Amino acid sequence: MRTMKLGSSPLDVPVVAVGCMRINSLDSKDAEHFVRSAMEAGANFFDHADIYGTGTCEEIFADAVQMSPQVRENLILQSKCGIRKGMFDFSKEHILNSVDGILQRLRTEYLDVLLLHRPDALVEPEEVAEAFDQLEREGKVRHFGVSNQNPNQIALLKKYVKQPLVANQLQLSITNTTMIDSGINVNMENDAAVNRDGSILDYCRLHDITIQPWSPFQYGFFEGVFLGNEKFPELNAKIDEIAAKYDVSNTTIAIAWLLRHPAKMQPVTGTMNIGRLQDCVKASEIHLTRPEWYEIYRAAGNVLP
Ligand SMILES: NC(=O)c1ccc[n+]([C@@H]2O[C@H](COP(=O)([O-])OP(=O)(O)OC[C@H]3O[C@@H](n4cnc5c(N)ncnc54)[C@H](OP(=O)(O)O)[C@@H]3O)[C@@H](O)[C@H]2O)c1
Repeated sequence: MRTMKLGSSPLDVPVVAVGCMRINSLDSKDAEHFVRSAMEAGANFFDHADIYGTGTCEEIFADAVQMSPQVRENLILQSKCGIRKGMFDFSKEHILNSVDGILQRLRTEYLDVLLLHRPDALVEPEEVAEAFDQLEREGKVRHFGVSNQNPNQIALLKKYVKQPLVANQLQLSITNTTMIDSGINVNMENDAAVNRDGSILDYCRLHDITIQPWSPFQYGFFEGVFLGNEKFPELNAKIDEIAAKYDVSNTTIAIAWLLRHPAKMQPVTGTMNIGRLQDCVKASEIHLTRPEWYEIYRAAGNVLP
């Protein structure tokens, strides 16, 4: 699979990341087959979070790869912390405890990337900076980033945190494009012009932060998959037409659409079906034309000003 640098870091990563939020839907044999096949396809960047399956997803993954120091060398592991039952928590104590739990469950000595999962209203950036310094000093985390954050939240962290923030994981799919819409509709009196995220897309490009689109196949907030869905007839017709042209599946085109954006995004897939994951990987070889990218965008119901 094609690779790229993650944010401003020297870390070379595959352009498609494998999300492990749903790995607890597989039995141990299928989980083993899934991760082995993913690695064979060049998909060795795995996205975790301490809350996925309340920690069991990380354990299932470590069992599935038969974690050992040799295996670990071939993996790029990212996990997230900061979501707790009924609250968000970016305190130093919670970040440090979370990472210790993650490392124990993944049976590894370090994370390649740690993301702060969802903004904590009570964040004290000085504490985050202390936690990151300690994690880096102790060799437990090599690179840091955020998730679901807007530009000013990142700027606030950057005032105190000395490590570069290399990634921002955000919800983005063909049917969930608010961060793109507001840029296209600047100054218009329509809903698409509403800037919900402070121009996070441009901010991440300006600051060399890789956007990792999560739920690349879902519409709404986990409402379902838009591909093959009768709620999106025009979109599916267009995607199918372009898929036929390139002789690939609709799954490949949905990921190729995200990869075509010059922000150099790294979509995080959620499928546990190895055939579908291979189709996602194939997207790294497809470069949609500008007209094709806009045709898909418009077929999703977006109107250009
Ligand atoms: N940072 C955050 O706040 C946040 C939030 C949510 C998720 N995430 C990360 O993002 C990853 C992806 O999220 P997600 O699982 O919601 O993403 P997704 O890839 O949009 O959805 C995957 C789900 O859609 C199903 N699916 C059905 N048809 C499909 C098709 N044609 N192509 C692909 N999938 C199809 C999959 O089933 P099959 O398994 O049968 O293919 C799977 O259940 C997670 O694993 C997690 O790592 C991050």
